[in-house]
Amino acid sequence: MRFELTDQQKMVEETARDFAKNEVAPRAKEIDEKKEFPVDLIKKLAELGFMGMMVPVEYGGAGMDTVSYVLALENISAACASTGVIMSVNNSLVCGPIEKFGTEEQKKKYLTPLARGEKLGCFCLSEPEAGSDAASQKTRAVKKDGGYILNGVKNFITNGIEADVAIVFAMTEPEKRHRGITAFIVETDWKGFTIVKEEEKLGIRGSSTAQIAIEDLFVPEENVLGNPGEGFKVAMNTLDGGRIGIASQALGIARAAFEEALEFVNERRAFGQRVVDFQGIQWTIADMSLRLEASRLLTLKAAWYKDQGRRYTLEAAMAKLHASETAMWLTTKALQLHGGYGYVKDYNVERHFRDAKITEIYEGTSEIQRLVIARETLKLYNYI
Ligand code: CAA
Repeated sequence: MRFELTDQQKMVEETARDFAKNEVAPRAKEIDEKKEFPVDLIKKLAELGFMGMMVPVEYGGAGMDTVSYVLALENISAACASTGVIMSVNNSLVCGPIEKFGTEEQKKKYLTPLARGEKLGCFCLSEPEAGSDAASQKTRAVKKDGGYILNGVKNFITNGIEADVAIVFAMTEPEKRHRGITAFIVETDWKGFTIVKEEEKLGIRGSSTAQIAIEDLFVPEENVLGNPGEGFKVAMNTLDGGRIGIASQALGIARAAFEEALEFVNERRAFGQRVVDFQGIQWTIADMSLRLEASRLLTLKAAWYKDQGRRYTLEAAMAKLHASETAMWLTTKALQLHGGYGYVKDYNVERHFRDAKITEIYEGTSEIQRLVIARETLKLYNYI
């Protein structure tokens, strides 16, 4: 077993770290305060090949592995979690399924501009009444004249305002429940795809989260992604990959809060010594360091499994659960270590604290990750 990154992975990590430090971090506070979608940064990420990292070069991607993706996304998210999720959704939730399930024509037409970062994607699975229970889709798709007519409402759609391309899930055969769901590739300027509202959020304020109304939207047959009736598998498979992305984002947020807390307790003095010299503080630092490392190892393991072509549902759920709960726990501790300064906006830690929360919610809540981990573990031990 080797714990060493390859030269290419080290290069990606270094590039991402430099870019995050020099270009992303200086913009993060403003992006959060102004709720600004970082168009400039997304353009530069595209130039680096970071918007379609794992897509083969022939389809406009960077042809890199998932480990490289994790390293890049951790660093971008450490600087700005909003920029991190925009990158994550485009890579994992949009390029991912088109590459895996798309036809050659779909790859040429949609994957190539998405991977180059010329277009942006969103993933429309959640609905007002179908969040954790993703199979309870109310959006309907009825076959008609060479295509389907879609009607429904999609909720909490990341990149929903800016996206050019949407992966939309709808029921084609409702009586079959999850086996009656089909995935579609939709161009967001088609008639019948309307943004209803943009959500006001606690964190990741620079990324948009939208509710979308789908009204008599015609989708041609050639835009069915995968086979009709296999949309739930497309969604679940895609979310396995997405969870590695969110684990990386959470890891980045946690690491940023950790490093800032270390800097603060090193400089701050109380009762005649540096705050970092108190043993109680060092115990907190030890726990933070340990949890961060465990999250990193789980995330890299899940990425490595994916790169090996192994099934990685369990590994991705473990990585996402551990990294997101670490992000929330660690940012809370980091804020506390800053004392009153942690609660005000002069320091970044309050932003990391707000940004961390969503990682426990989107792409499957912590409760759903526990459910997936339990089911996969019981399968492993032949109890189900
Ligand atoms: N890969 C491939 N297939 C899978 C799978 C996986 N990881 N997990 C399940 N399946 C298959 C099963 O094998 C089963 O197939 P068969 O019909 O052939 O038997 C089928 O899917 C149904 O599986 P389950 O019985 O396990 O389905 P369920 O209804 O109990 O749901 C669940 C399982 C894990 C709870 C699932 O609903 C889930 O993941 N829910 C959370 C949804 C979620 O993560 N939403 C996030 C929204 S996207 C988002 O947040 C994006 C954003 O903008 C950032």
